[in-house]
Amino acid sequence: MSDLPQTVLVVGAGGREHALVRALAASPTRPRLLCAPGNAGIALDATCHAVAADDVAGLVALARREHAGFVVVGPEVPLSLGLVDELAKAGIPAYGPGADGARLEASKIFTKEILLRHRIPTAPAAFFSEPAAAIAYLRARPAPIVVKADGLAAGKGVVVAQTHAEAEAAVRALLALPDPLAAQANVAAPPRQILIEDCLTGEETSLLVVVSDRDYVMLPTAQDHKRIGDGDTGPNTGGMGAYSPAEVVTPALLGRIEREIVRPSVNAIADEGIAFRGTLFIGIMLTPAGPSVLEYNTRFGDPETQAVLPRLATDVLALLWAAAGGQLAGFRLEVKPDYALCVVIAAKGYPDRYPKGDLIGLPVPASLPPGAFIYHAGTATNAAGQTVTAGGRVLGVTALAPTLRAAADQAYAVCDQVRCDSKYFRRDIGARQLNRQ
Ligand code: AMP
Ligand code: GLY
Repeated sequence: MSDLPQTVLVVGAGGREHALVRALAASPTRPRLLCAPGNAGIALDATCHAVAADDVAGLVALARREHAGFVVVGPEVPLSLGLVDELAKAGIPAYGPGADGARLEASKIFTKEILLRHRIPTAPAAFFSEPAAAIAYLRARPAPIVVKADGLAAGKGVVVAQTHAEAEAAVRALLALPDPLAAQANVAAPPRQILIEDCLTGEETSLLVVVSDRDYVMLPTAQDHKRIGDGDTGPNTGGMGAYSPAEVVTPALLGRIEREIVRPSVNAIADEGIAFRGTLFIGIMLTPAGPSVLEYNTRFGDPETQAVLPRLATDVLALLWAAAGGQLAGFRLEVKPDYALCVVIAAKGYPDRYPKGDLIGLPVPASLPPGAFIYHAGTATNAAGQTVTAGGRVLGVTALAPTLRAAADQAYAVCDQVRCDSKYFRRDIGARQLNRQ
């Protein structure tokens, strides 16, 4: 494998990017780390530059100016805007798919067509751009039923409707959603399309797969907690907590997932002519009839990454560099036996309206349990130099311990020490697996 890069730029500003920065900082090569735009916590581990994650030209210029030898792209929007393609034109290697691969996340219809064409298990679906046809279709299907916006919608594009009335309201709302990519590119948005698909039941699991063309490395399994409230109640969010491993995925089940979903997905993407080098994040529903694909994302999950990366004993820089360079065949992943659990601390009101600028009082690092770490997400430093809230998901507290119970206890002990008027977090991260034990 070619020499590892000495300067690495991480693009993004969330807890996922903080976890990536920390993992890269642990590389034995001790790379110089940059982040754009980063946040108050990332600034302690990397040099942050105030270039927005969707400013493609600005990021390419930054990478050039700072002699970045490698760029690791966190969020989906710059991937969809073709950041990795533009970096390649500038001769700068990057981890993450080009715009063609990012369509697997940016268009649910594109992905559904690939899944169906390659006979990869997924819920049957139909596509619409007119409300009348959509409503006629769903009235003929049983409820609950799922309505999804085709394009990126920052986590607001999926409604699992319990009744036909709710589904009809979702059809109208989702067909009227603004299109963030068109807004970024300053072009008129194409008409929205929606999918209506059958509702699957079961437990969900997130599988992060590092892909390099036809080679791949599956990262340890994880489970997210998407709803805002304890007991999986209330609206969907970006994710309120995660743990790894997800033991509901037994070794036998993981073998089945690899045979029926992972290998066929990686091959299907290559067969479609997409040179995919980056993270294929497969959202899977473990239905009574077997595992079924809910979606692909083309980036690391947030907060799954905050629970998965701390478990890797492998040099993450070497892993991502090998994938980006087409050298992943035979890569051996070393995983620690410990359990990791991440609790997201959000601002009260998230995922709707929430305050910003609230002071955050953090425990001093020396007082944290040995396996615990506080990742920053929506944080900033105010004019007085204080750490304040600056987003919906504010922090992610991860603990690594020999049992899931110990990891949960440690993470929650830290959450209780964080001081912030608008602090909100779920109390039951990991409960499903803990209750089974
Ligand atoms: P997606 O962005 O497509 O993964 O959807 C977000 C969430 O909506 C998933 O994590 C599931 O909780 C739920 N969901 C999506 N599709 C379905 C489906 N066909 N059946 C049941 N729930 C679904
Ligand atoms: N945690 C789910 C996601 O990253 O989309």
